[in-house]
Amino acid sequence: MSLKSREMNILIDEITDRILLLSIIMWAVALALTFLFSSLFSSSVRRLLSLTRRIAEGDFTARAILKRRDELGSLSDALNEMARRLQSLFEQLQAGFDELNAILNSLSEGVLVLDRNLNVKLANDRLIEMFPIEGDITGKGYLEVIRSADLKGIIDDLLREGRVMGRRMEFGGRTFTVNGSSFEGKKGKRWLALVFHDITSDVQIERIKADFVANASHELRTPLTAIRGYLETIEDEEPETRRKFIKVIQRNVERMSNLVSDLLLLSRLESSEPHIRTERVDLHEISGDVMKLVEKEAVRKGLKLKMEVEPGTLVIGDPFLLEQMLLNLLDNAVKYTERGEVKLKGEREKEGVRIQVSDTGIGISPEHLPRIFERFYRVDKARSRELGGTGLGLSIVKHIVILHGGEIRVTSRPGSGTTFTVYLPSSAGNPSRDSSYA
Ligand SMILES: Nc1ncnc2c1ncn2[C@@H]1O[C@H](COP(=O)(O)OP(=O)(O)OP(=O)(O)O)[C@@H](O)[C@H]1O
Ligand SMILES: [Mg+2]
Repeated sequence: MSLKSREMNILIDEITDRILLLSIIMWAVALALTFLFSSLFSSSVRRLLSLTRRIAEGDFTARAILKRRDELGSLSDALNEMARRLQSLFEQLQAGFDELNAILNSLSEGVLVLDRNLNVKLANDRLIEMFPIEGDITGKGYLEVIRSADLKGIIDDLLREGRVMGRRMEFGGRTFTVNGSSFEGKKGKRWLALVFHDITSDVQIERIKADFVANASHELRTPLTAIRGYLETIEDEEPETRRKFIKVIQRNVERMSNLVSDLLLLSRLESSEPHIRTERVDLHEISGDVMKLVEKEAVRKGLKLKMEVEPGTLVIGDPFLLEQMLLNLLDNAVKYTERGEVKLKGEREKEGVRIQVSDTGIGISPEHLPRIFERFYRVDKARSRELGGTGLGLSIVKHIVILHGGEIRVTSRPGSGTTFTVYLPSSAGNPSRDSSYA
């Protein structure tokens, strides 16, 4: 071999070695790069997978941050955008649901929705208050929640007729009206919606009104029947008897007229906006006037009448009503006292005036005391009627006291006497709603 060809061979070997080394290096670099890219790729895919899983589980706040410009980067942007939209949609739905819930719970009516198996689907707060219900009732049978035969009848009719209106039901001493309708829910399922309205206080008012009309009619009929009876026979009577009859008729006419005036006054006092005057009224002056009105009867019965009102004691209020109040109290004191005395006292107090009407009469036993301010309430009906009483006097007194922002109390001992104490503030302030203390 020549020198030249040996050199050539060495050169070729060297080049071959270098190529081999280079290929090994390149192969190693390629391997390293492949490993690096595949691990980066699979970590991105894993993050995207975890994102989709969280969204599927309802966590719409989840986001994936991939800083890539390839398809995986675009996919992550698209998924993030989807999650954002789902989150805003979900928030809108939640707000709508909260609003609906707030509306349902602010209703004064109770709302109950039942599914087709008659299990509770929804009940608002008012319903839960109306029928004191404890614990979660969703999914429970309606009769388990409200045990009521009335309600069962209503629901049976609702299932048959598809609609019920203004049906009454009693529950726990209260009265309700129920309206209901059946409607089609999702996938054609039948649901029942019922609305309960508590009308207990309306029913009580209706009853009070009916009682009032019955009482008033009865009280008017009594003197009317007497008048008619005497009038029918008066023509055939002797002049002496006629005079007696006329007196009886006059008494009954007066009684009717008093009753009508009392009823009118009571309705005026009970009206939603009773008009009362507010003037400076001299208690001493009106007390003297009222004393004169009962004096004759007191003298006839041999009773001592006393008035202890300091001159110049002023009350702010309606002079006519205040006189009426004193008259009713004094009239009772004289009417229900057979011997002894009747006293009217009036004195200034720190912030107002205290008036006391006391007697030494028959008294009122404790069980009757809480009721004497009710309309038409009389302890002894027969006796009061005989004395011309209808049981409206104290009810009028109570209203007058309330309208003047005052208070009334009564103390009594059967057989010893009764004392009514009225306190009136010096300025006719806000009327207090309940001002009687028995
Ligand atoms: N001073 C009193 N002493 C004993 N009982 C009284 C006295 N004041 C009231 N009562 C009892 O309270 C009842 C109610 O009194 P109220 O003044 O409202 O009715 P009345 O006197 O029977 O009739 P009216 O005043 O309408 O003519 C009376 O029927 C009576 O039984
Ligand atoms: Mg009376």
